[in-house]
Formats: sequence, structure tokens, C-alpha cells
Amino acid sequence: ADDTADDKNTTATTTTVKAADPPPQPATGKSYEGAQLWRVQIADGDVANLQRVEDDGVAQIWYSNATVWDLMVSAENQPHVRKLLADNKLAYTVVIPDMQRAILDENPSLSDDELELTSRKGHRMTWQHYHRVTDMHGWLDYLANTYPSICETLVIGSSVEGRPLKVLHIKGKPGSPAMWVDGGIHAREWITSASVSYMLNELVENHDSHRAWLSAVDLYVLPLANPDGYEYSHAGDRMWRKNRRRGGGCDGIDLNRNFGYKWGGKGAGPQPCQEIYRGSAPFSEPETSAIQSFVLARKASLKSYLSFHSYGQYVLYPWGYDRFVPPDHEDLQRVGTKLANAMRATSGLSYTVGSSAALLYPASGGSDDWAKGQAGLKYAFTIELRDTGRHGFVVPSSHILSSGKEVLAAVRTLAQEVAAL
Ligand code: ARG
Ligand code: ZN
Repeated sequence: ADDTADDKNTTATTTTVKAADPPPQPATGKSYEGAQLWRVQIADGDVANLQRVEDDGVAQIWYSNATVWDLMVSAENQPHVRKLLADNKLAYTVVIPDMQRAILDENPSLSDDELELTSRKGHRMTWQHYHRVTDMHGWLDYLANTYPSICETLVIGSSVEGRPLKVLHIKGKPGSPAMWVDGGIHAREWITSASVSYMLNELVENHDSHRAWLSAVDLYVLPLANPDGYEYSHAGDRMWRKNRRRGGGCDGIDLNRNFGYKWGGKGAGPQPCQEIYRGSAPFSEPETSAIQSFVLARKASLKSYLSFHSYGQYVLYPWGYDRFVPPDHEDLQRVGTKLANAMRATSGLSYTVGSSAALLYPASGGSDDWAKGQAGLKYAFTIELRDTGRHGFVVPSSHILSSGKEVLAAVRTLAQEVAAL
């Protein structure tokens, strides 16, 4: 599908709504017929064995902590993995019995009414569906062009395949402390980009209701940090995680292992075929190095760094590279708890707060560690959005609104902290 070409090199001044894209479709590429999500109970976190299962290509790790592994297993590999688990006396339950069905149900196409409505609004974005990159970028430009006194788009770089990395800047009073927010570093975590987008829409379209706190911060938001991967997760493989750098044997670099603080340490792989491949060098990828340059150029005013991922419902703070905490960890725990409470107050979902290597597993080269350890932004968090395993990455689009309200609550709460409101 030629959904990419007309999006390249879009500038901040584009106003025209292009001819309608095909409506959002379930991933058309790779089939997940017969694939299942299994939840394995483990006694003590055997991360090495787990990583081998994925590196051998017999299952894909969706999630892991000290007691649970979520593995996606293709139909053909199920006998092998079943035996492997039995040999190791590991019990499992089937969480998603029919992955292809789950993917089809995740993102229903727009109805005729919705299509009609979007054609009159000047953009094609909704919060009932997961949208393609052109819809999302077109809508960011629409916001900037419609509300130039409130916000602007900034193209901070471009992806491996040449898509713009589009930041929406919601302007505060001159001299305000600044905050960074991103979503979609991992391609398949669709709920993150959709929820971050919902927040932006609410803040710009209903700016008056948020003016008190918005005027006190400069908010820089990148909803699609990995646009190539995101597009590929729609058109090629729903479960794509990395960016789309072409390699000899395997494609893609895990952008959340490519940031340059303690790069190449635990929980990041040297092999291009790994899902957690760190890349050839710190910031080897245009997506991570664009964030690096942007943040460093504003490091005097930036006070917080917030990356949205999924899933598991966690508010995580550094360090991710190993089981240590920074000297000001009590501040991070205190503010993280405020974020979790604010999110729970909007949706009822509970979020666990803690340092990421201790709570989940060590993983080096993450954006949060770099933001704190190298760029010196005090409040660096990774928030893992819903859910806790029922849908995994395949969160039905009917959740976007509720998840988006959580994101808004978290960002507002962090802004109050950063601006001492
Ligand atoms: N699920 C995220 C990942 O694996 C967690 C990142 C937490 N931060 C970190 N620096 N390890 O990328
Ligand atoms: Zn992620």
C-alpha cells in the first residue's frame, strides 16, 4: 500500500486534507492465525532462559516480571514450547486463544458516518480508532494551523524511511519550565500513541479549561517516536517492535535500547535478529538521535521526561540498566505515586510505582535512563499503560478515551510538580 509517500517531508504549514487514505484496517501482512498468548508462572525470574526462548525464535516475549512471562506462540511452535514448559515444570494459562481474531476485533474500520464527519472537520483523526501515520500527522498540522497562538509543530528530524518526527509544542508563558512527552517508541504499543494524541487534542481544543496549568509549562510532545515501525505494525506485522532500519539478516533496532547512557549493558542485545537489539552504537538511529539533539538543546529549561509504553500498568523511574536507584529516588517515588494516583482517579485502574530494573528486569539504553543520567532531567519516567495481560498489546480501540484521560491526568500532575503549582 502506498500510504507512506505523501506523508514524507510534510512541513508544519500543510493545511490541505489529502484524499482519503484507506480506512484503518487490521494488519494485512503477517497472519497470526492459530497464534496464542500464554501466561507462564515462574518461581524466580529466570531472565536468561526466557531470553533464549525468544532468541531461538520459538516464542515472542510480550511481557515479563519476576513471577510471570507472557509469551506469544505461533501455531507451529506450540507443541515445542508446551514440551519445553512441561520439562521445566512450568504451568501456563492461555490468555488470548485466537490472536488473529483479537487483531481483527482491535480496530474496527470507520463507519460511513464517521468518514463523512471526518471529511468536514479538516482532519481525519478520531478517538474511536487507531489511525495511520498520515492521519495522525495531518491532524497535528491541523491543530498547529488552526490554533497558532496555542501550539506549533516542530519537525525535529526524520526516521530511517524519511518520515518526519513531529513534535507538538503547546506554548507556555515565556521562560516557563519545559516538559518532554513521547509515545510509540515501540511500534506495536498502539495505545500509547493514541492516548498521547487524545491528551493533545483535549489540551488544544479545550485550551481554556486547562489554561491555568498549561500557561506555566512548555509542553513538547512526540506522539509517534517510531513512525516507520508504527506504519509497519499496521501494514506488515502487527507485532513489530523495533524501528525499520534494514539489516543484512534481520531488520530493526530497539529504540529503547539505543539511547546513550550505559548503552550495551544488561537486557540489551548485540545481535540484529534480537527484539532487543541495541544497534551498532549509542544513538545510531535517527529517531533516537533526533530526541537527543532536541532535548540537549533545551536541557536548561526541560525539567521532566515522560515516555509512554505498554503494557503492565507501571509508573517506572530510573534506573533501568541495573537494580540501583539514583540519590533522589525518594522524590521520584513520591512524584511517581502522585501520577499513579491521578491516573487511578480517572479510570479506576491501579498502577504500580517503582524503579524499573527492580520492578521488571534490567534493560539498558532506555530513554528514561538517558534523560536522567546524561541530560540531567530530574523527573524521568516511563509509564506502562494498560492492561495487565488480558489484551496485551492488542487493546481494543474502545479503550483509547479512558486511557487518554489517564495520560492527561499524569501529564497535568507532573506539570504541577515541575512548575511548583
Ligand atoms: N518495557 C520497557 C522496555 O523494555 C521498559 C523500559 C523501562 N526503562 C528502562 N530504562 N529499562 O523498553
Ligand atoms: Zn515499550
